[in-house]
Amino acid sequence: MSPAKKILLSGVKPTGRPHIGNYFGAMRQFVELQDKYEAYVCVVDYHALTTLQDAKELANFTYEMVLDFLAIGLDPAKVTLFKQSDVPEVTELAWIFNCITTVPYLERAHAYKDAVAKGREVNVGTFDYPLLMAADILIQDADVVPVGQDQKQHVEFARDTAEKFNRVFASVPSPVFKLPEPIILDAVKTIPGIDGEKMSKSYGNVIPLFATDAEIRRLTMGIVTDSGVGIPKNVFELHKLFKPEEELNKLYQSKVGKYQELKEMLAKDITEFIAPLRVRREALSKDRAAVLEILKTGGERARARAAEKMKIVREKIGVSIN
Ligand code: TRP
Repeated sequence: MSPAKKILLSGVKPTGRPHIGNYFGAMRQFVELQDKYEAYVCVVDYHALTTLQDAKELANFTYEMVLDFLAIGLDPAKVTLFKQSDVPEVTELAWIFNCITTVPYLERAHAYKDAVAKGREVNVGTFDYPLLMAADILIQDADVVPVGQDQKQHVEFARDTAEKFNRVFASVPSPVFKLPEPIILDAVKTIPGIDGEKMSKSYGNVIPLFATDAEIRRLTMGIVTDSGVGIPKNVFELHKLFKPEEELNKLYQSKVGKYQELKEMLAKDITEFIAPLRVRREALSKDRAAVLEILKTGGERARARAAEKMKIVREKIGVSIN
């Protein structure tokens, strides 16, 4: 018998159309990791609720994100794909974590500090965000959590919270919660947008992952190039995602100064890459019932595991009386 696979869990926030930076920075890795781990990927709709308070949009974004992941090759036979709100035990656990966590501790969270620094009036959900995330992770016994660099601290919070629970509720010698390890996806920071800044929806410099051919062409031709050097850096950096660097070095050396032509070549390479994904997504989108069934099955599986865990947690904290 082969040894049991380690458990991987990650959460993705349904926030709209993904771009190629999201893909190369994070989404793609889930597909690569799905064979190696027993994998759980959850669309964190309750996290999204901290900022998105529009029922139609939240429902659409959640559904669309499931399509995105299926289209890029997440295989529901290998990965339990589910939505967070289908596992209500997670919010129950988050409450329990609230009670063993201090306010000054949560005040150290970068995301919270940034929101305060921007002068925003922070809602309680945003403040509590790390503990809901800790509950996502710990309730499924995750060993590893693939996240971008910006989420590293949140995984540390999950570890601390696991330790704290294990200590407070005397769960030695058999601790209730495992301490999860982050897997830091490193590509995130290096993917430039069409203006050379980090590709980010908030900068308006993205190329959508499922862009149409016309969009790809328009956006690629609009990549900002600094005149004079001969090798358009922003074009080259994006091109590296689609072609090996040695090949590009030769190509760009042979086309010094020919920005238009290089951009055309990049547009062609992006189109060739995106077209099959887009076709797959369109096919999937024609069968809404099948997609919802995948979510439902995933939710049931994830919930069954969570319910088992909560039985132990409830006993440990003293709310199960028999
Ligand atoms: N906070 C993560 C983000 O904004 C999303 C998330 C929620 C998550 N729960 C998680 C990531 C559990 C990993 C594991 O990207």
